[in-house]
Amino acid sequence: MCGIVGAIARRNVSKILIEGLSRLEYRGYDSAGVAINNEEGVFSHRAVGKVQALKDKFSDQLLDGKMGIAHTRWATHGKPTESNAHPHFSGGDLALVHNGIIENHEPLRLELKAKGYVFQSETDTEVIVHLIHDALKVEPSLLNAVQASLAKLEGAFAIGVVQNDDNERFIAARKGSPLVVGVGIEENFVASDQLALLHVTDQFIFLEEGDVVDVTLDKVTIYDAQGEQQDRPVSVFNHSIDATDKGEFRHYMMKEIYEQPKVIRACLEGRISDNKVLTSCFGADSGFLKQIENIHIVACGTSYHAGMVAKYWLEELAGLPCSVEVASEYRYRKVAVPKNTLFLTLSQSGETADTLAALRMAKSLGYLTTLAICNVPSSTLVRESALTLLTNAGAEIGVASTKAFTTQLTALLLTSVAIAVENGLSAQEESALVDAMRSLPAYVESALAEDEHIKKIADRFANKHNALFLGRGAMFPIALEGSLKLKEISYIHAEAYPAGELKHGPLALVDEDMPIITLVPHNDMLDKLKSNMQEVAARGGELYVFADKDTDLHNEDNIVFTEVPKVDSILEPIVHTIPLQLLSYHVAVVKGTDVDQPRNLAKSVTVE
Ligand code: G6P
Repeated sequence: MCGIVGAIARRNVSKILIEGLSRLEYRGYDSAGVAINNEEGVFSHRAVGKVQALKDKFSDQLLDGKMGIAHTRWATHGKPTESNAHPHFSGGDLALVHNGIIENHEPLRLELKAKGYVFQSETDTEVIVHLIHDALKVEPSLLNAVQASLAKLEGAFAIGVVQNDDNERFIAARKGSPLVVGVGIEENFVASDQLALLHVTDQFIFLEEGDVVDVTLDKVTIYDAQGEQQDRPVSVFNHSIDATDKGEFRHYMMKEIYEQPKVIRACLEGRISDNKVLTSCFGADSGFLKQIENIHIVACGTSYHAGMVAKYWLEELAGLPCSVEVASEYRYRKVAVPKNTLFLTLSQSGETADTLAALRMAKSLGYLTTLAICNVPSSTLVRESALTLLTNAGAEIGVASTKAFTTQLTALLLTSVAIAVENGLSAQEESALVDAMRSLPAYVESALAEDEHIKKIADRFANKHNALFLGRGAMFPIALEGSLKLKEISYIHAEAYPAGELKHGPLALVDEDMPIITLVPHNDMLDKLKSNMQEVAARGGELYVFADKDTDLHNEDNIVFTEVPKVDSILEPIVHTIPLQLLSYHVAVVKGTDVDQPRNLAKSVTVE
């Protein structure tokens, strides 16, 4: 999604801004731009494609200045062209960058056109800069003109604005899209996330909804939505959790796949004793666990798949009804909330617009409480939820989520066991589950050992256009996640089905060109799955079977076998995820796609 960086300093800021944009690349974008304010005016470079294309423009024509704003754009209104790239200008010396969507841009555009403004782009953003320009005619203070203009906007935004007439400050604001202030010594910054500014500061202020900030060299002044000045706390970034270089790996995704044993351990650390889940991990007062009678889980994308797995765990271990829904649907329907229902959101970033909107709606619906399982401690979701369980996976840069997913599952397993203990799970059963969890990092490590074998299999997918993933029970959401990974980064059309549904449609697609990836743990569904596999084999389909040794499956004419460690059944969804991540990674590498930044996708979906 779009990313913003802004800077004011005693030194030239162009390199700081470009480095900030490079650090935001992981969020996904299709064009980039920068505006620099100096004694002679506001000047900009914009380019379609990667930040490197923007850097190349700087080699042709250097832009120097001590204040500037920069942007990576993920197209919503208008194609990814240079004229649609930000910054947008009004009157030549007022420039603006924006992340979000202005929903009432059409009537505003008509009003502004009637006043003589000429639009240079197809974007919704351009109305904001003209509105500010118009407001400056009656209100010479840039801060006041921005505040007056923002009051006219409907939708979501984070913005940065520079004006050449006022070279002592830039103004930034947020409502519905993330923005953080980076505090330096005689220099200050803003950005869409902390990672974009770690090269210049580790001190941050998280803006609240509706905040407008006046940023000068030595001062950051924050006004809330009512225009009242506010002090917001400064927090220091913990560098030990920063993991923004690829190390020995070719791609972030592979690095993050290999980090999983370590981060799963970090997710469990301090949360289990020898034989118990420590409920203090939910905060000082874990009394809510006793009261829960229902659970509603809401999330998007990969996080939604984690929620689907948790439904199996919660209903099996705790015997409580659990529903799971994508946030973009939940937020637009009338939801019936039974008494004592826990509202549980899952999000890697904690900034996904639909998940945040769902949380805000849920707060008015009489839930018992709200719990966020999230990877980013400073995120809006964490700040707005009553309770939080952090996944502790460290920064995830690859757009296709890997370690964030398996740590979400780990955190969900902790949560499921904690709730189950209040609903009749015996001390002996709890102790066995805790033992299983403790062995999880080692099992994930053994699953990674199949990497070389999976790399060889991946070659066979190079010319495929479709793939089918099958699983049963809690492995069905893992099949969904496997198919999502494959389509996200290798652009192969992939679908997942609960294997029992095969004959109700997808069997019609099966022929020798259709790889069928089947997840076969050794559990009570094994024989059923073997029958489903026979149905495929009988129609010439090529089966890629991921199973443990005890299943008695092995390579055959139409079966390509990959061994997955035999584990306690509760861990199967987590351990079976690993080979599917490796498969999609290697297929993408064979196909030569942009593994870490797949086309059209964004890491953090901050607009609806
Ligand atoms: C985007 C990302 C996915 C992610 C989803 C939800 O689509 O590309 O990897 O699963 O957003 O994001 P969240 O941060 O809420 O988990």
